[in-house]
Amino acid sequence: MEARKIKISKQLDLNRLPKHIAIIMDGNGRWATKRGLPRNMGHKAGCENLKRIIEHIYDLGISCATFYTFSTENWKRPQEEIDGIFNVVRDYLDEDGDSFVQKDARVVVSGDYSKLPQDLVDSISRIIQKTKNCKTFTLNLAINYGGRDEILRGVNSAIENGQKLDSTADFAKLLYNADLPEPDFVIRTSGEMRLSNFMLWQMAYSELYFTKIYWPSFTEKQLQKALIDFQKRKRRFGAL
Ligand code: FPP
Repeated sequence: MEARKIKISKQLDLNRLPKHIAIIMDGNGRWATKRGLPRNMGHKAGCENLKRIIEHIYDLGISCATFYTFSTENWKRPQEEIDGIFNVVRDYLDEDGDSFVQKDARVVVSGDYSKLPQDLVDSISRIIQKTKNCKTFTLNLAINYGGRDEILRGVNSAIENGQKLDSTADFAKLLYNADLPEPDFVIRTSGEMRLSNFMLWQMAYSELYFTKIYWPSFTEKQLQKALIDFQKRKRRFGAL
């Protein structure tokens, strides 16, 4: 994680920030194509931006963030692009390992990462192990993650254990990283306005924010703008 001093807007109330922010980092490919670059350069730039935005989320005092890194549907992309994404993720985890511990930041993964290439599985296992006692911040990477797949796994695990579930809260315990609060704020970049199989169960009452900006160009200032918008919303959770 790199250090950048960012001014905090007076409009942002630091006492009313989301507990868990989730981000669909879309638009890496279009960002690159617009600049005449190969798509994988977009993922590299997306990773550089992820570092800046994580740092800012952490500095603001938000304690949990999930990033949609690779979906169960992304296997349909050309192998070269898949390899490019995996390399960027592996390098990030390998290079930034110590800074996570210094910042007391825990790294967890949602998704079946055992199906990823062995070098990436090893990097992920190492960082999870290394940061498992960190408490200040949780970075959740959704990798080989699909919301429907997660729900199906939960259902199968209940069946296999002969478990009859009495409440939705009981079912939620069967999902990935059930100790995390549900995301109260979800941002999707690049102008697409859909959920793309992301945290379908956990997002039942999330506030959604869409921006046309491609992920590599989404700045700390735009994050603050999104958070100010979040703070204007009235969250009723079905009540009046
Ligand atoms: C969506 O943009 C982005 C992805 C499928 C990959 C996201 C991965 C990274 C940002 C790499 C870094 C991540 C970590 C955790 C180190 P797209 O390719 O669908 O863009 P497009 O819609 O413009 O084609």
